[in-house]
Amino acid sequence: METKVLKIDPIRPDNLAIREAAGYIANGGLVVFPTETVYGIGADAFNPEACRKIFKAKGRPSDNPLIVTVASLEQAQEIGKIPEERLRAIRRMWPCPLTFIVDANRELPREVTAGLNTVALRMPAHPVALELIKAAGVPIAAPSANLSKKPTSTNAQQALRYFDGKVDCIVDSGPSFFGLESTIIDLRTFTVLRPGPFTIEELEKAFGERPKVGDVAKGMREVDIALSPGTKYKHYAPDTPLFMFDGNADELLDIISEIDEIPEFVFVGSAESCKKLSETGCSTIALGTSKDLYEIAKNLYDGLILIDSMKVKFGVVEIFNEEGIGLAIMNRIRKASSHNEFKDTEGLRGLIAEAPKPKQDSTI
Ligand code: TXA
Ligand code: MG
Repeated sequence: METKVLKIDPIRPDNLAIREAAGYIANGGLVVFPTETVYGIGADAFNPEACRKIFKAKGRPSDNPLIVTVASLEQAQEIGKIPEERLRAIRRMWPCPLTFIVDANRELPREVTAGLNTVALRMPAHPVALELIKAAGVPIAAPSANLSKKPTSTNAQQALRYFDGKVDCIVDSGPSFFGLESTIIDLRTFTVLRPGPFTIEELEKAFGERPKVGDVAKGMREVDIALSPGTKYKHYAPDTPLFMFDGNADELLDIISEIDEIPEFVFVGSAESCKKLSETGCSTIALGTSKDLYEIAKNLYDGLILIDSMKVKFGVVEIFNEEGIGLAIMNRIRKASSHNEFKDTEGLRGLIAEAPKPKQDSTI
């Protein structure tokens, strides 16, 4: 299949180009498109055959349901039952990087819901995404644009590396604004299932009620409730083993100096830590200043993708403060590193000895 790349201005999308991209959706095809969070890979949410193609292109397990993106609250209400008492707040905050799990109120393809009687609804705050959904005339089912388990695309170039020849069209509107997937909240229980750019603090303010946040949201357990218990999917992971480090740059330098002939590695973290480490000759990938976690979030997936191109034996990633968007950052980092963490020399020695066997890999 030939993949058409369409450049569309992110703020003032060209009508003709939007209609061309929407045409692929309407005809049962796949379109990779930008949202404010990450790039998505979309198909007509009412067309089972088109949705099946998403799973094939991503290599996604068929029991993992899809998010349905809509362009209006009315369109959302055709699909799901948004609780009456939440409507006012949602009307005020949509579009935004927030996905709601609600009871489904019409028959949706099994591919979309994975057989659940709930549906995930989202209205992206991105002009191109909104215009595309409107022009397609149907809600668009759109998971993140990554091969299953791999870090998500936050720009069209990365999406092209994953999906060239596998989708009909890739819309290039430059980098996504946030760089991490939307916050998911189950409106039936008011529980955050996946932290994202819409923070817990902002949710509390918008709804006047603090949502529940469990281990799932911290990345300690998986969000994918459709999976059989105990199954664990690996997520967002580079091929290179990745270890989290709980400490500052000076402490890391001490630990490294105690290990003779340490294999080549790369450090991924804040610009401040990277500066210290690179002065001593370490390879580093700087994600941004530790003073701005939004910058770290925006560059995180690109940083994870870069690790593999550096041909090192392992990566060490910094642990960030879990306030605000930091909760989402750490959720992704925990999964990308398969929860491997060290605090001291012994810990790092142990992880190096075990690498490259992934510790808690999936059963698929
Ligand atoms: O920012 C985003 O949300 C991006 C952009 C493209 O919109 N999309 C995205 O989709 O991150 P995806 O498929 O990568 O993540 C959706 C998550 C999955 O973990 C899936 O299991 C969960 O939402 N999900 C979908 N429907 C669900 C449901 N009915 N109940 C519980 N979880 C659900
Ligand atoms: Mg995803």
